[in-house]
Amino acid sequence: MYRTNTCGELNISHLNSTITLSGWVQKVRNKGSMIWIDIRDRYGITQLVFEEGKTDANVFETAKNLGREFVIQISGTVIERFSKNDKISTGDIEVFVTKLNVLNISETPPFTIEDESDGGDELRMKYRYLDLRRNPVKNNLLLRHKIAQEARKYLDNINFIEVETPYLIKSTPEGARDFVVPSRMHKGEFYALPQSPQTFKQLLMISGFDRYFQIVKCFRDEDLRADRQPEFTQIDCEMAFVEQKDILETFEGMAKHLFSKVLNYNLPNFLVMSYSEAMEKYGNDKPDLRFSMEITDLTSIVKGNNFVVFDSAEYIGGICVKNSSEFTRKQLDELTKFVQKPQIAAKGLVYVKYGLDGTLKSSVDKFFDEPKLNQWATKFDAKSGDLLLILAGEKEKTLHALSALRLEMAKQLNLMNKDVFVPLWVVDFPLLEWNEEANRFQAMHHPFTSPKIEDFHLLDTEPKKVRANAYDMVINGVEIGGGSIRIHDKEMQATMFKHLGFTKEEAENQFGFLMNAFKFGAPPHGGIALGFDRLTAMFAKTDSIRDVIAFPKNNAGKDVMIDSPSQIALDQLVELGLQINKKE
Ligand code: AMO
Repeated sequence: MYRTNTCGELNISHLNSTITLSGWVQKVRNKGSMIWIDIRDRYGITQLVFEEGKTDANVFETAKNLGREFVIQISGTVIERFSKNDKISTGDIEVFVTKLNVLNISETPPFTIEDESDGGDELRMKYRYLDLRRNPVKNNLLLRHKIAQEARKYLDNINFIEVETPYLIKSTPEGARDFVVPSRMHKGEFYALPQSPQTFKQLLMISGFDRYFQIVKCFRDEDLRADRQPEFTQIDCEMAFVEQKDILETFEGMAKHLFSKVLNYNLPNFLVMSYSEAMEKYGNDKPDLRFSMEITDLTSIVKGNNFVVFDSAEYIGGICVKNSSEFTRKQLDELTKFVQKPQIAAKGLVYVKYGLDGTLKSSVDKFFDEPKLNQWATKFDAKSGDLLLILAGEKEKTLHALSALRLEMAKQLNLMNKDVFVPLWVVDFPLLEWNEEANRFQAMHHPFTSPKIEDFHLLDTEPKKVRANAYDMVINGVEIGGGSIRIHDKEMQATMFKHLGFTKEEAENQFGFLMNAFKFGAPPHGGIALGFDRLTAMFAKTDSIRDVIAFPKNNAGKDVMIDSPSQIALDQLVELGLQINKKE
């Protein structure tokens, strides 16, 4: 038997027991006649003690030569520690070792296996299996497991069934780029890896399964960010015979269940906000509501004072930053630089300091006198001590810039408390968005999302105004999930494809299977998918989803541990029909 107990288990109640442990050498402290060794496994650390003269001489000699990360098995007696350690569960005891068996030796690891490691990102990624031995990373995976189990419990309890859908499917042009897999048996033909199981879960509804879920890998060939990986996991769900409100209720319930069971956190009721309100007030379709700092529209009150920047702007708006009128010139210059970054691209920043003495000073004093500034302050509902930051330009771009500025200010003022969670549903997304490159409309969510019946008549005349039965779950400014009520009518789906610029043949060729299925009694249905990695990262209070994925890709989409992507042999290319013959 390799072990009778784990390394995180023994305490004062085990005094005098004879036990066996297996694990890794965390630390060796050799004080000459006494040696202490910390043995570690997944469950914790136990201190071992060896004493010259008392411990068997061979065992003592072996102990002397142990190195970090050796795999050992020991037997011994649990004794009380002289100096206790209240930071670990086994801190009251140590094990007096009588038998020591080296199960495997180890080279010195390339970085320290400690909570704060000395290894940089790339090195830890290359040796990810060693990184996973460290507590912070290990704990994230345990947390991930717990969330998955609780999600399964919640869904199983209300009759959802888990069904696997295929990974080798068909490439479609909508959404992100597909990863494709060449077929050996059908040269020149390709499978695609699913960006999500969307069409399959809809087919399952047509099959009558009623409530489906799957914790499932999805693949998208898109630019990476801290919250995006080329392969990621969704908690993917679909329900039949439901309206939007049924789905929102079910998944608000799931979020509350997960926060309560895993974090012991009482998630408040979700606010419901329309997309247009979110854009007007926060410049963003995933507003972080841990702080207010709403955007105020000044367009109607600031024009006509010979300030050409405002007079020529489509939109002028700003935010009121509480208790920040003491910002220095340098800080304001830095903020100006921040909004002028290419990603934000504002032309400049106008500020008004509402001093603690009640005076109003602005960067545009030449154009606006104090009564005018007072009028602005009233519009912002500003108090003395506040700082007003104002941007002007084209409406959409200015709102986007204000959103970035709002988040930056929240960061600088420490308003993003990672221990507080404020959830909301953003609803009534536009059905369509204009794709500059393709010079056509595309579905904002996906082509299977149903338009709001009351907006349907606008599809031909004012397509931009048509709202969808689509919703996002947003927590602390992160899009945790998204879904919609689907089209279940063959004619309506054909109309949608037409509006998305598909010819009849293209629609038939790519989605014929779904339209065909709609002929055979498709029930009304809808669903949602939660980004499991993003949810876990939020629970783990980390900003990068890489921290909660066992073997993630780096920022360049590479797995530096297994060295992927990599070239394949010429033989393989030929076999797959990707290279005609070896000479070419
Ligand atoms: P959507 O594309 O909105 O919807 O994806 C659902 C959720 O998945 C997460 N997500 C990602 N997480 C990590 N890396 C990525 N590259 C990535 N892309 C998306 C987000 C997102 O909210 N089939 C629809 C769902 C439906 O309509 O039911 C879908 O996939 O958290």
